[in-house]
Amino acid sequence: MKHKHLDAFPNDFLWGSASAAYQIEGAYKTDGKGASVWDTFVKKPGTTFQNTTGDIAVDHYHRYLEDVALMAEQGLKAYRFSVSWSRIFPNGKGEINQAGLDFYNSLIDELVKHQIEPIVTIYHWDLPQALQEEYGGFESREIIQDFTNYAKVLFEAFSDRVKYWISLNEQNVFITHGYLLALHPPKVKNLKRMLQANHIANLANASVIAAFHDGNYPGQIGPSFNFSPIYALDADPENVLAKIDTEELMDYFWLDVYAKGHYPRTVLKQFVTLGVMKEPSEADNELLARGKPDFIGLNYYQSATVTKSDTMTLSAQDMQMNHFGKKGTSRSITIPSVSAFTKNPYLKQTNWDWTIDPIGIRTALRTIESRYALPVLITENGLGEYDHFENGEIHDPYRIEYLKQHLKEVQAAITDGVQVLGYCSWSFTDLLSWLNGYQKRYGFVYVDRDETSQKTLNRYKKDSFYWYQEVIATNGASLTKKEND
Ligand code: BG6
Repeated sequence: MKHKHLDAFPNDFLWGSASAAYQIEGAYKTDGKGASVWDTFVKKPGTTFQNTTGDIAVDHYHRYLEDVALMAEQGLKAYRFSVSWSRIFPNGKGEINQAGLDFYNSLIDELVKHQIEPIVTIYHWDLPQALQEEYGGFESREIIQDFTNYAKVLFEAFSDRVKYWISLNEQNVFITHGYLLALHPPKVKNLKRMLQANHIANLANASVIAAFHDGNYPGQIGPSFNFSPIYALDADPENVLAKIDTEELMDYFWLDVYAKGHYPRTVLKQFVTLGVMKEPSEADNELLARGKPDFIGLNYYQSATVTKSDTMTLSAQDMQMNHFGKKGTSRSITIPSVSAFTKNPYLKQTNWDWTIDPIGIRTALRTIESRYALPVLITENGLGEYDHFENGEIHDPYRIEYLKQHLKEVQAAITDGVQVLGYCSWSFTDLLSWLNGYQKRYGFVYVDRDETSQKTLNRYKKDSFYWYQEVIATNGASLTKKEND
C-alpha cells in the first residue's frame, strides 16, 4: 500500500548499530580467554579470504572506550554486541573467567554512562573449541545445558543494566554454513547431521529463552534471524509454488519453530520421508513451546528470487559464493526438486553480488507481523562495500543511499502497522567480515587496517557517520525532509 504521510518513528525508537565479538575484539587469548571454533578454523589455510583472522580484528578489546565515545558522539541510542562465550568460560563450562565478565561489565557501564541501551547477543557463532572437541558442539544434547548455564551467568551479571537479549544469532546461517555447505566450522557437508545439529540448536535456544522467563529477569529476549524474503520470478504458477516451497524451507523452517514452537508441517514431512529427520519427541515439542521469544530479531540484507527446479539431483557443487568482491563471480544454487535461484531483473547487486532491495525489508517486517504478530527489533542491516580513504576522509554516498532507502521502508512498515522496536545498522566500526576479510567494509567508522597488516588501527568517521547522526537527532525526520518540505 502507499501512504500519503508516513507515521513518525516512535519516541523511544532504538536507533542503534551492531557488531559481534569475533569480528571486532581481537585479544584472542588475552586475560584468560579460551579458544573458540573460529580461532581454530581460520588458522587452516584457505578457509577465509587471504587467510585473514580475528586475532587482532579491530582491537576493540583494548579500544572500547574510544569506540563508545564515538557512539556517544554520533548519538546512538542502542548498541548491539555479542559476548564471547570462551572469554566467560574458557572451556565452555566449569570455572568462570572473572576477567571476561569484567570486560563486558566495563563496556556495559560505559554504554549506560552515555545513555546507550546495551543489546546483548549471547551467541554469535564463536563456540568454545573445548565443547566442539569434547562432544561435537551442536551435535550433542549436552550443549543445551552448557549454553543455558552460560546464558544464566550473563543474565545474573548484566540484567540489572541490560534489557534486550538476543539468544542465537542467525541459526539458519551458522547451521547451514557449518553442516551443509562446509564454509564455517565444523566444516561438515551432511544434510542429516545438519538437521540434527539444527534441532539441538532449536532446543538450546528455547531452553535459554525459557530460563530467562522463568528467572523473571526484566526485559525481553528473542533470536536474530537472517530473513531473505523469497520472490517468484513471475506469475507462472509453477514458479509461485517454488517460491512457497523455498520460503518454507529457508525461512519458516526456523521462524515457525521460534514463534509457533513447531516446524512447518510440509517441510518436516519431506525430511522425514527422505529419512534425514525424525518427528520431534513430545518432550522436545514441550520445550520448544515453552521457549517462545518476546520479539524477533531481524537481520536483513537481501531478498532472493526463484523459479521452479527441473533437476532432481543435488547440485550444491554448482554453487559458488563471491568472497572476493569481484562482481558477477557468484553462481547461484539449485535446490533439487524445489527451486532454482536466479537474478531479479528489477534489482541491482553489490560488488559481492548481494541483491539490493529496500522494499524487501518492509516485506520481511510485514511477513513477521502477519505470520507471528510479534514485535521486531531490526538487529542488522547494512552495506558491505569498498571504501576509499583519502586525507583522513571517507566519502560513502552509496552506504548513505542504501541505509536511507531501507530506513524509509522501515518507516513505511511502521505506518502499515508493524511493531518495530528499533534498528541496528551493521556495523558501527569496520570489522572482519568472516569469509571476506577486511576489504568488505560495513561501518560508520573506518578502521585503518587491511588483510596484510594491522596498520595503525586508527578510527576515522565516514560521511555516513554524520548522516546517521542527523537521522538520530531528528528521530528519523531527516529521512523524508525534502519530500515533506
Ligand atoms: C550476518 C552476520 O550474517 O551478516 C554478521 O550476523 C555478518 O556477523 C553480516 O558480518 C554480513 O555478512 P558478511 O559475510 O558480509 O560479513
